[in-house]
Amino acid sequence: MGSKLLWRKCIFFIMIICMVNCSPPEDPIKCSLKNYNCTITNAYGAFPDRSICRAAKVVYPTTEEELILAVANATMANTKMKVATRTSHSIPKLVCPEGDNGLLISTKYLNRTLDVNVSSMTMTVESGMTLRQLINDAAKAKLALPYAPYWWGLTIGGMMGTGAHGSSLWGLGSQVHDYVIRLRIVTPATAEEGYAKVRTLEIGNPELDAAKVSLGVLGVISQVTLKLQPLFKRSVTYVTKNDSNFENDAISFGRQHEYADFTWYPSQKQVVYRIDDRVATNTSGNGLLDYPGFRSTVSLVLSSLRIAEETEESLSDADGKCTNGKFTTAILKTMAYGLTNDGILFTGYPVVGYQNRLQASGTCLDSLEDLTITACPWDHRVKSLFFHQTTFSISLSQVKNFIEDVQKLVALEPKSMCGLDLYSGILMRYVTASTAYLGKQEDALDFDITYYRSKNPMSPRLYEDILEEIEQIAMFKYGALPHWGKNRNVAFDGVINKYKSATEFLKVKNKYDPTGLFSSSWTDQILGLNGEVVIVDKEGCALEGLCICSQDSHCAPEKNYFCRPGKVYEKSRVCTKVDTNKANIFLGSRYEICSKSILSLVLIIWYF
Ligand SMILES: Cc1cc2nc3c(=O)[nH]c(=O)nc-3n(C[C@H](O)[C@H](O)[C@H](O)COP(=O)(O)OP(=O)(O)OC[C@H]3O[C@@H](n4cnc5c(N)ncnc54)[C@H](O)[C@@H]3O)c2cc1C
Ligand SMILES: *[C@@H]1O[C@H](CO)[C@@H](O)[C@H](O)[C@H]1NC(C)=O
Ligand SMILES: *[C@@H]1O[C@H](CO)[C@@H](O)[C@H](O)[C@H]1NC(C)=O
Ligand SMILES: *[C@@H]1O[C@H](CO)[C@@H](O)[C@H](O)[C@H]1NC(C)=O
Ligand SMILES: *[C@@H]1O[C@H](CO)[C@@H](O)[C@H](O)[C@H]1NC(C)=O
Ligand SMILES: *[C@@H]1O[C@H](CO)[C@@H](O)[C@H](O)[C@H]1NC(C)=O
Ligand SMILES: *[C@@H]1O[C@H](CO)[C@@H](O)[C@H](O)[C@H]1NC(C)=O
Repeated sequence: MGSKLLWRKCIFFIMIICMVNCSPPEDPIKCSLKNYNCTITNAYGAFPDRSICRAAKVVYPTTEEELILAVANATMANTKMKVATRTSHSIPKLVCPEGDNGLLISTKYLNRTLDVNVSSMTMTVESGMTLRQLINDAAKAKLALPYAPYWWGLTIGGMMGTGAHGSSLWGLGSQVHDYVIRLRIVTPATAEEGYAKVRTLEIGNPELDAAKVSLGVLGVISQVTLKLQPLFKRSVTYVTKNDSNFENDAISFGRQHEYADFTWYPSQKQVVYRIDDRVATNTSGNGLLDYPGFRSTVSLVLSSLRIAEETEESLSDADGKCTNGKFTTAILKTMAYGLTNDGILFTGYPVVGYQNRLQASGTCLDSLEDLTITACPWDHRVKSLFFHQTTFSISLSQVKNFIEDVQKLVALEPKSMCGLDLYSGILMRYVTASTAYLGKQEDALDFDITYYRSKNPMSPRLYEDILEEIEQIAMFKYGALPHWGKNRNVAFDGVINKYKSATEFLKVKNKYDPTGLFSSSWTDQILGLNGEVVIVDKEGCALEGLCICSQDSHCAPEKNYFCRPGKVYEKSRVCTKVDTNKANIFLGSRYEICSKSILSLVLIIWYF
């Protein structure tokens, strides 16, 4: 008992050391001349097609007046524009202005709270404010945003741009934009109107349903007013079960618990159920979430994890991935997924605490400037985790079938999903039908799948075919809606046809920005204005999700990956490894022993 406490103290001490030496995420915009001749990327340093986006200029308005001037100036000159954030967390190329001569309007300095009205429980903020600031400022007034994403480092404008969400079927559901009751948006305008104007959209105005999830193509959201609730407490318990009744629980669990979610490890046939509900504010407890995957991580640990994964990939060492995956899962469980009962120690479930301390986290945002020591786990300035994300929501009426299809794939290839366990499994969260034209169409379960991406776009992944098949089963067999801020390009193939009010959205777009100054070929493609998402036809395109393979050259035939029908969904076309020899097996098992011990050490350091 005593030694356990000592151990915990030691861990805490190590965490403190880490906290003062971490590097904050970098600004995604880089200019060779001050604010001119710029490039923009996302937080991962790579768009789906790995292109570099350019802009002639960036402006950093600090007030709405400056924002109006910037939009007016660009409209007058007929310049293409895009809104960029300090965080740039979206994977698809939403932030790229068309061509090389566009303008980036950054919301970096539009990050103030303008008004908190306790009696009406509303809060008005500028659009560049991060989720973390929003949560903190609301809590100061004893208010809370009832549902939100789990990561602090997103801006309110960005969350609305892509429909970001947490998990709930209760209330208005888990998407942040459904709590917006008013916003101000700056759009292009005619010469008589001074080339730019501010539109105020209140709840009840159908144009708000367009602006609530806008992909950034309507103009620049300047201010947002959210409807909040009195600060409340929650009680969280994680329970691990096998996945034999999971396909049924997936439908009912969200009705039973307000903040229900699941983490599924398909190859381990295990699911972590999050039992999470509101409790009376006088329930004792001051729990805190500091999710390990969003903590500052020692750079050496990050590079070791990446090297281990690259080695497993190059040796086709599925067993190594399974071992390390189980280990990662066990450690996460031991450390209660980052929960503590009092901000320091985890002593047992349930963890009870205030909403502002449990809904989201992201301590890797705090940090000083020394990258050689620590960084966020995906920081591309150091050798770190590099991955694809396939994230989509499947209507509750189809979830059971989808889960069974994934289980069939596991039965055929038991080790094929071990790689997901290294990225904390498949996170599954509830979302509800929204009035937003580009929001969720039905109550659904959102599946968040994160998996290895090679630094070399021509290099196939271990069990490439299985995840490609899951992606196609979701998008095409079950008509899943891709998360606008995540995914590989193929997920957006024909996407606009899945939205029943798409034409309403396009009418508003046409009214606000008739010449498409805020649009690009990519946004035109996903909105169905420029044919559909361009499916490129080049060597290896399926490996990066830029196409669905239709011939072998879209895969990697020289590495024995050929275009084949899927194993469960015969209409799918995936890059499948056709085994010609098993030479790697011996090497693989010897390597495994070594990697197991090194990785255990590395993971222990990482998580504690
Ligand atoms: C570690 C991590 C955790 C995540 N967790 C979650 C999660 O829990 N739930 C979830 O749903 N998603 C999550 N995401 C994805 C994330 O929600 C989206 O990528 C999000 O939209 C990014 O927000 P951003 O502020 O970085 O905006 P960006 O990616 O910079 O912008 C997104 C879009 O919004 C537009 N935009 C931004 N600001 C404005 C504005 N003021 N006016 C008009 N348009 C604007 C941009 O032009 C762009 O089109 C996560 C991402 C990461 C990296
Ligand atoms: C603009 O940047 C590119 C590289 O990003 C560089 O090659 C070019 O010389 C720069 N142009 C000017 C005018 O600085
Ligand atoms: C507007 O354009 C003029 C001339 O191109 C430029 O000098 C000025 O800085 C611009 N203002 C803003 C706010 O972008
Ligand atoms: C707003 O953002 C700027 C730049 O990132 C930062 O220096 C400032 O502290 C932020 N303001 C608030 C209120 O957080
Ligand atoms: C707060 O909101 C209420 C109800 O909308 C309104 O009557 C009141 O004037 C507002 N208070 C402030 C300080 O704006
Ligand atoms: C799964 O768990 C249930 C009880 O929760 C048990 O009855 C069942 O046998 C388990 N199935 C497997 C395959 O372990
Ligand atoms: C909490 O408050 C309620 C009344 O609001 C009361 O009935 C209950 O006994 C209180 N519980 C505790 C643990 O104090």
